[in-house]
Amino acid sequence: MEASLLFRTMAESDLGLVLTCLSEPSVNTTTDDRFREHLAAHSYRHEWTWLAFDGDTLAGLAVWWGFPAGDRPLALDALWASPAAGDPVPMWAELIRRVSPPAEYHIFTIPEHRDDPEIALRLRAAAEAGLTTLNERFRYEWTSASPLPDRPARLRYVPATDEEFADAFERVSVGSLDVATREGVARHGARAQALADVEDYKMMPGPRERWRLAYDAGKNLVGVALPSANAGGPVVGYVAVVPEQRGHGYAADLLAEITWMLAADGATVIRADTDSTNTPMVATFERLGYRRFALRLVAS
Ligand SMILES: CC(C)(COP(=O)(O)OP(=O)(O)OC[C@H]1O[C@@H](n2cnc3c(N)ncnc32)[C@H](O)[C@@H]1OP(=O)(O)O)[C@@H](O)C(=O)NCCC(=O)NCCS
Repeated sequence: MEASLLFRTMAESDLGLVLTCLSEPSVNTTTDDRFREHLAAHSYRHEWTWLAFDGDTLAGLAVWWGFPAGDRPLALDALWASPAAGDPVPMWAELIRRVSPPAEYHIFTIPEHRDDPEIALRLRAAAEAGLTTLNERFRYEWTSASPLPDRPARLRYVPATDEEFADAFERVSVGSLDVATREGVARHGARAQALADVEDYKMMPGPRERWRLAYDAGKNLVGVALPSANAGGPVVGYVAVVPEQRGHGYAADLLAEITWMLAADGATVIRADTDSTNTPMVATFERLGYRRFALRLVAS
């Protein structure tokens, strides 16, 4: 079937068609409203939206997200197929292959819908296109309906330069349980991954001047406390402890500090993700009163 399909990026005149597809209820992150908003904000782009045509009929659609100031898409947000298109998997796989280097595919769901057949189909297409590693990330949320966590005074939090953050990111990547960090380090090396992480966090809408490095009473580096935000609001950008300081519960100090800083800046909802396999971080969120509200599946 897909041999006869024509693949191309979106033209401005396709907008109505694309919005119609995205207005259908689905497991996709992208809705018609979200598409319109993110297109205006440059985090969706015509050139990052791929269409598959069977003659004049739209058969399939794939929507990628990237930073507004970025030069490439970072995450696949939606796969749509016409009900008349037959098995969508080969077509979706072909659409996913259009973006190179490959971007991750993020699916937002809840634990009860983890095995939804619509999700399974999309993950099959992702795997067929080479995104064979599936990472489950727990999504956490703190709201101002809960008390602020205890704010221990063991550590000192100081602003730092990009260079100092890159050095710290490099140190904390050693022995990390975070899947994306481990993959990035394996692929690009610890230094390159640290520099890329600093650049990515700088592209997030949270204020750069709120990033902190944490030091113990002996002035030794403990870790990173990086409050941030995405388009949806305030987020825990990054919590990390250098290997030689792990096992003292410092992750909780850093998360408490971030929560206090964001709340002081007016946040009433703070969101965060962590890999289901990152057990110390999962325990830290739960201990500090963050509620697990959803699941993010990441194919890479
Ligand atoms: C996750 C992290 C912040 C935990 O920091 P921490 O201050 O050591 O956390 P805790 O002290 O609460 O650790 C709880 C337990 O997990 C263990 N642990 C912590 N990090 C570990 C790691 N990377 N690998 C193996 N075990 C680890 C601790 O030794 C401790 O074990 P114990 O109870 O037997 O003493 C730290 O591992 C880290 O910086 N990882 C890299 C970055 C990262 O994953 N950040 C989270 C992204 S959302």
